Amino acid sequence: MTRQLHLNAFLMNTGHHEASWRLPESDPYAHTDLSHYVGLARTAERGTFDSLFLADGPQLWNNLAQRPAGALEPLTLLTALATATEHIGLIATASTSYNSPYNLARRFASLDIVSGGRAGWNIVTTAGAEAARNFGLDAEPAHAERY
Ligand SMILES: Cc1cc2nc3c(=O)[nH]c(=O)nc-3n(C[C@H](O)[C@H](O)[C@H](O)COP(=O)(O)O)c2cc1C
Repeated sequence: MTRQLHLNAFLMNTGHHEASWRLPESDPYAHTDLSHYVGLARTAERGTFDSLFLADGPQLWNNLAQRPAGALEPLTLLTALATATEHIGLIATASTSYNSPYNLARRFASLDIVSGGRAGWNIVTTAGAEAARNFGLDAEPAHAERY
């Protein structure tokens, strides 16, 4: 029996190691640099990865000692990457608590069409008070309510 290994590249801001952005050869602004992501996406595609993945939450990263704050919105970034790649899958994280179903369906369908059927969705309900406050709530909705 032939078995097939599937590979997904989990791209994270300026890198997974919290000190990676502090190396002299690193760019601390790479997380908002499209050419940085285009390079990573093309490297992953050339390396036969099935997909690339962007984690996300609708809030600023609040620990500046660990990594630069802010991130490009995943569906926007993946739409740009769709035009810079040919066949790698493009997976965005998006919250069901802080988006309406219609907007989610429209945005993912748009990415899927623009990319030629390569869109994927990491469905999250979003934990944490920081995100809740960005939507006028004092605290995150209860776990059962989010799910
Ligand atoms: C590999 C991995 C990636 C995740 N990425 C995200 C993410 O990008 N955004 C997010 O809000 N939650 C993310 N989560 C958290 C999950 O969505 C979930 O909230 C978490 O596992 C806790 O479960 P609970 O929501 O039932 O408490 C991730 C979890 C794992 C294991």
